[in-house]
Amino acid sequence: MIMTSSAEASQNEPQEVVHFTPLDPTLADDFWPRMNNLRDRYPVVWSDQPWSDKAAGFWVVNDYADVMAAGVNWRAFSNAQGAAPVQFDLDILRMIPLETDPPLHRGIRRLLNPFFTAEAQQAGEAGIQEKVDTLLGRCIAKGEVDFISEFTQALPPLVFFETYLEQQESEIGWVLEILNTLLTQPEKALEVAPRLLGWGAELLVKRREQGRRDDLAGVIAHMGLEGSDDGLELSEKQRIETLNLMIMAGMETTMGALGSIAVRLATDQALRAELATADDKRLGRVVDEFLRFESPVPTAGRTLTEDVEMSGCPMHGSDRVLLNWAAANRDPAQFKNPDALDFERQNVSSHVAFGAGIHRCLGNHLARREIKASIKAISQLATFEVSQDDFTPSYRPAFARGPISLPVRLAR
Ligand code: HEM
Repeated sequence: MIMTSSAEASQNEPQEVVHFTPLDPTLADDFWPRMNNLRDRYPVVWSDQPWSDKAAGFWVVNDYADVMAAGVNWRAFSNAQGAAPVQFDLDILRMIPLETDPPLHRGIRRLLNPFFTAEAQQAGEAGIQEKVDTLLGRCIAKGEVDFISEFTQALPPLVFFETYLEQQESEIGWVLEILNTLLTQPEKALEVAPRLLGWGAELLVKRREQGRRDDLAGVIAHMGLEGSDDGLELSEKQRIETLNLMIMAGMETTMGALGSIAVRLATDQALRAELATADDKRLGRVVDEFLRFESPVPTAGRTLTEDVEMSGCPMHGSDRVLLNWAAANRDPAQFKNPDALDFERQNVSSHVAFGAGIHRCLGNHLARREIKASIKAISQLATFEVSQDDFTPSYRPAFARGPISLPVRLAR
């Protein structure tokens, strides 16, 4: 339940206060009733909970119209002071380009965008389908598996490391271990992150020694170097932070999306049968609607650079703001019958599961391809069903939302 209390009702101060934090462990399993209730009661509201280890108190923006307005207004809703729902120390690690504003953000995106366009992803489609089939084949050979550890957590790193970093599955066992630690013991993040950062730093040095600029790592290795003509000035730390975000941004997020969708497919055989014959165009709509419905990345942080009034709330420059993508994606003012999965809805692609505005997800076409290939292959299996009686999925209270386990039985 969301508890509220009346704050000092003076002019220009929040009149109602909730005690909402996106990482509340009890939110994860009661997610949609709580998010819907929060949005229905308050389009925008003040929460008195911490948003970093140093500061408490932030606005929560919940309704679609306000989330969209804030998302596209990067001048007022800045990312330079952090975009995580609960903020880490930016001096230790900044997510780049996410935690930057223009003009720096614009310059970096211009160099990264070509690797992630729909056309660039089209070229890699066959490789993605092949990896989906390989992983499913291994699951089928076992007969019964935890689909989260065997498939949904395996696919995103396999695809990314091979496609973008020339690393085969046999070479990335240590990366999978790090990812698993980050998922299951996030408190150990500072302990395990340096290994991945160190590996990235070495890769950038290697690309410069090779004089290679033909791949993602090569472009990042030469980005904003002294004397380069890309108009950027970046430190080596910033280049390493950029490569690190490229790797990490598509992991927990895509895993969460695949996991939530797999739960639905394993528990709704009529839906699976319907999707088995869906053509490519329809599958595109299916992916969008699933993303709206599940919202694997529920929230994001911003900091105001000026005073703004939103839904009658007086927000001040330097206030912290939480954009609630998930609540917006189930806003009945935007989506008719929002708690139903409806592939026919007219505005199916107007969801904010990938964010909105200049920081809209760089990897959205890659994620869509992985999800589409997975839905197609899972739906075409003869058997894909929950193998444990009375199974109820439990979700992680994390930055990306996804089920912790999914015991399934599968057969071709
Ligand atoms: C289903 C999977 C995914 C979801 C739901 C998702 C969601 C999001 C969201 C909501 C944002 C905006 C954050 C904000 O505005 O604060 C974002 C940004 C971003 N995403 Fe994704 N993402 C997914 C997969 C990926 C993949 C596969 C990559 C691979 C590179 C990726 C890379 C990024 C990057 C680099 C940004 C920052 C963009 C910028 O600041 O300009 N994401 N994502």
